[in-house]
Amino acid sequence: MLLAQFTDTHVLERDELQFLDNNASLASIVESLNAETRRPDLVLATGDLTNWGSPAQYELLAELLSPLEIPLLPLIGNHDVRETTRKLWPDAPWADTEHASWVTTRDEVTIIGLDSTDPDTHGAVFDDDRCAWLGSCLSSAPGPVILAMHHPPFTTGVDWMDASGFVGLTEFRRLIAEHSDKLLRILCGHFHRPVTTTVEGVTASVCPGGAYHVGLELHPNAERSVIRDPRGYQLHLLDGTDIVTHTRYVDTGEVAFDPGWT
Ligand SMILES: [Fe+2]
Ligand SMILES: [Fe+2]
Repeated sequence: MLLAQFTDTHVLERDELQFLDNNASLASIVESLNAETRRPDLVLATGDLTNWGSPAQYELLAELLSPLEIPLLPLIGNHDVRETTRKLWPDAPWADTEHASWVTTRDEVTIIGLDSTDPDTHGAVFDDDRCAWLGSCLSSAPGPVILAMHHPPFTTGVDWMDASGFVGLTEFRRLIAEHSDKLLRILCGHFHRPVTTTVEGVTASVCPGGAYHVGLELHPNAERSVIRDPRGYQLHLLDGTDIVTHTRYVDTGEVAFDPGWT
């Protein structure tokens, strides 16, 4: 199975810019996904798909995604709106819960989309409802599991991004530790730059952003900074319980060529 992931596209109003043309970046991502020589089976969109969740931004999000020829599973981020996201994808396998989470199975792999958002904050929230729901999904999964969520369940070392916090992180990590033998990967967004770590022994990664990136400043209390690093998406190639991840950039203008080596 080949699973694509893009994240944090922050779709803007028409003709609006936020450091760069986010909507054009998403259009490039869609075009590139459709052109992959091995077609992904599924696309995970790990949240902050719109910039502020306005109806006009959702309208443009739908328009920009309409050429995508691959089934898409959406997660919401702290910039999105639960009900509007559910309405835009009425056929997604939404759980019957207040939080906009879902679970599905493809090729014997259980894929869980956990809504880590709270309408009142930019940080992550893992409350009792979500703990019970995720615990039940993990316990009943018959085989390997991929968990997708917007907020990374770890600190990154970029203090101003980490400051939004993760309420319920101890409980979340307890569940991950309990089911770490089943979990292949935790796939996240929100951080706006690629990063990889382990959470209770499970590899956890953040996909490069679909719009601007966070400046890489690891000294304590660094000022907020962003950077127009190349936008892209990731391709997670699954073979049994092995999973290897590649990054595709969409706006460098480069096309692969024969180097002429013999
Ligand atoms: Fe974001
Ligand atoms: Fe976010």
